[in-house]
Amino acid sequence: MTTSNSIRRKIVIGAGAAAAASAFPTSLVRAQPAKIKLGLLLPATGTYAALGAAITNGFRLAIDQQGGKLGGREIEYVAVDSEANPAKGPENTNRLVQRDKVDVLIGPVHSGVAMGMAKIARETGTLLLVANAGAGAVTGPMCAPNIFRTSFTNWQPTYPLGKVMVERKQKTAVWISWKYAAGEEAGQGFREGFEKAGGKVVKELWVPFPGVEFQALLAEIASIKPDAVACFFAGGGAAKFIKDYAAAGLKGKIPLYGSGFLTDGVLGGVKDEAQGILTTLHYADALPFKRDEEFRRDYAVAYKLQPDVYAVQGYDTGLLLAQAMKAVKGEIGDMKGIIKAMEGATVDSPRGKWTMSKAHNPIQDIYLREVVGEQNKYLSVAAKQLADPARGCKM
Ligand code: BEZ
Repeated sequence: MTTSNSIRRKIVIGAGAAAAASAFPTSLVRAQPAKIKLGLLLPATGTYAALGAAITNGFRLAIDQQGGKLGGREIEYVAVDSEANPAKGPENTNRLVQRDKVDVLIGPVHSGVAMGMAKIARETGTLLLVANAGAGAVTGPMCAPNIFRTSFTNWQPTYPLGKVMVERKQKTAVWISWKYAAGEEAGQGFREGFEKAGGKVVKELWVPFPGVEFQALLAEIASIKPDAVACFFAGGGAAKFIKDYAAAGLKGKIPLYGSGFLTDGVLGGVKDEAQGILTTLHYADALPFKRDEEFRRDYAVAYKLQPDVYAVQGYDTGLLLAQAMKAVKGEIGDMKGIIKAMEGATVDSPRGKWTMSKAHNPIQDIYLREVVGEQNKYLSVAAKQLADPARGCKM
């Protein structure tokens, strides 16, 4: 077929379509733009299951508040259970990208899963929004224009904890955690902050993830007799650790501190054992913000639950995506426009307003909190507008 023929053919088809269109109500013939596909890779089972549910709830609330659309486009969710299993991270991410053809990847909770997701996001150019996992590498050596985090790095909550503890006259500390990236990096952040302020980490103790056999290590802590203990645990394992710490007779003798994941989302199941624990995190209960009050009210109405830090991170992921999709008028293919909008965004979060660092991680306040009743009660700002050092990120 000659070029002029093919042009004519197109014109004829166009004329036919126009004629057909005039015969039907426009609502029936107007082509619907494709739905935006969101691939959620979050834990639905295991020790982090509740964290995955809270992120999903928060995300959906933000989207529902936009009328259930992004940039005017309908949405389709594809959810896969990550099982918080790093070995399955690459396979699950590939499934979402190659088979389900999602436009955006959202997740995960576990730092090891995040490494697999980030690798595939880098290879395929798929937009990845990290809604929890704090793995430093994701916004460090693996940083990329299409990867954004809406949560924290593992370093961020524990670096200010060190100073808080020294101010409370704790000179020596034992660090205890699960042995994987989140616990190791949180431990490094803690050591950096604690020793810079004049403290000394006298011992590091490790438990394989997601194990909860703490007794032998708690006995070791009792024999070391440090001034204090600092830790990273989260979800179901954190609740068990708090109970075992008290059962071992350490509560009231050696003060327990942690990044706030220790006590966020777990206080319904541990009450007396958790009272008085001090933690640092980028969210707290009873923050003095109207924005937070509104969010907590809306979340409670929607889910009959109180939100926690994971719900806030999910919510902020939805806010950031909605803001960017509005900027590109729903053009999910306009990656340049989306990146520009996300890099320049100020997220009006329940945790307080935050912005993106050059490495695409939140620059945010870290709060000191104390467990009072079932709340992680806000006490003060432990670090103002803290940015992760983003070591190794070249963008
Ligand atoms: C992590 O693996 O990065 C992580 C998991 C739960 C809470 C915080 C961090």
